Amino acid sequence: MRIAILGTGRMAAGLGKGWLNAGHFVAFGSRRPETKTAFQAEIGADSRVYGFEGAITAGEVVVMAVPYAEVAPLARKHSDLLRDKIVIDITNPFDSQPSDGRAGAEITAEAIGDGARVLAAFKGNFSGTLLDPVDHTGQPRDVLFAGDDAAAKSVLAGLIADLGFKPVDCGPLRAATMLDLSVPIMIEMDGRLNGGQHNSSFRFSYPES
Ligand SMILES: NC(=O)c1ccc[n+]([C@@H]2O[C@H](COP(=O)([O-])OP(=O)(O)OC[C@H]3O[C@@H](n4cnc5c(N)ncnc54)[C@H](OP(=O)(O)O)[C@@H]3O)[C@@H](O)[C@H]2O)c1
Repeated sequence: MRIAILGTGRMAAGLGKGWLNAGHFVAFGSRRPETKTAFQAEIGADSRVYGFEGAITAGEVVVMAVPYAEVAPLARKHSDLLRDKIVIDITNPFDSQPSDGRAGAEITAEAIGDGARVLAAFKGNFSGTLLDPVDHTGQPRDVLFAGDDAAAKSVLAGLIADLGFKPVDCGPLRAATMLDLSVPIMIEMDGRLNGGQHNSSFRFSYPES
């Protein structure tokens, strides 16, 4: 698939390398693509850093990997380009969690407007685990996701599996509030039980899993 990742930070690098390794086309979007020579060298010649508009244009799937506060303005600015594309919002609102109970990804969908195909995913997956999808027990780590568009969810589940993770469908986009709210718990537990190494992950296990 043609994947655009907006951002050139830790999550963008991990997801981008993983999908490039799996054979996908990946374009990165940056505020200042001309300054990203070190990132470009790290990622390799199979991919390129564009401005946000160039990256979005190049992708069928667009991953929001910028700070949460930047997502709605970015989505609004490029709403015409983002409409009808599959948009994966991985951003964590933390203290900016919407006070009306909505998920961050619902705000993203609203910013794009009619035709938005926004999914929430990867919220609780530490960047340091993205290229290490199998945990110390030998099991693939879960990637929890939520969304309203069944076809888009099927594409996302495939992309998660291509990274070596287990896709776990958590329901409609409305359920993404729970994903947002689970992240502070995850970080707290990683600090208490795992020395803050950020290489832990949740697994939901049940008899049929
Ligand atoms: N780190 C994790 O373990 C983790 C896990 C799950 C979800 N997340 C979420 O994923 C998103 C990215 O996290 P990250 O750890 O990859 O962050 P990061 O390393 O700080 O990278 C964020 C990237 O966003 C871009 N950006 C655009 N506008 C920005 C602004 N105003 N200020 C700073 N950067 C801006 C920057 O790329 P350019 O300089 O090229 O524009 C930057 O490289 C966040 O929303 C975070 O909540 C992170």
